[in-house]
Amino acid sequence: MLTNVEHIGIAVRDIAASNDLFTKLLNVAPYKAEVVAAEGVMTSFFRVNQTKIELLEATSPDSPIAKFLEKKGEGIHHIAFEVDDIEGEIERLKNEGFTVLNEVPKRGADNKLVCFLHPKGTNGVLIELCQEIKE
Ligand code: CO
Repeated sequence: MLTNVEHIGIAVRDIAASNDLFTKLLNVAPYKAEVVAAEGVMTSFFRVNQTKIELLEATSPDSPIAKFLEKKGEGIHHIAFEVDDIEGEIERLKNEGFTVLNEVPKRGADNKLVCFLHPKGTNGVLIELCQEIKE
């Protein structure tokens, strides 16, 4: 089951500058900065009540974020939905005909298991499913 929008991901060219910008905009500092080496991204997270914003900067030229910035420029990169059973949701969405980019959930930023749906099948919006890792 999808439970809520967990965060909105925004691709940026200069995360230090964008951290300052979003700190002013949201009137709160980021609560976390984290590199996800496997994805070639540096992230930072802001929280306003229940709403989270994830900023993403590429750390290598072949990072998916670098490719996104090249094609589309800065802007909203993905919408992430929290799910309570990521394997079950992947199965359900595959059965509904969606293209799942990784059939096995992988470790993402902010202590989450994540899975992405191809934007070609979702009106051009990259969708992330995420589930908190409890250990
Ligand atoms: Co995300």
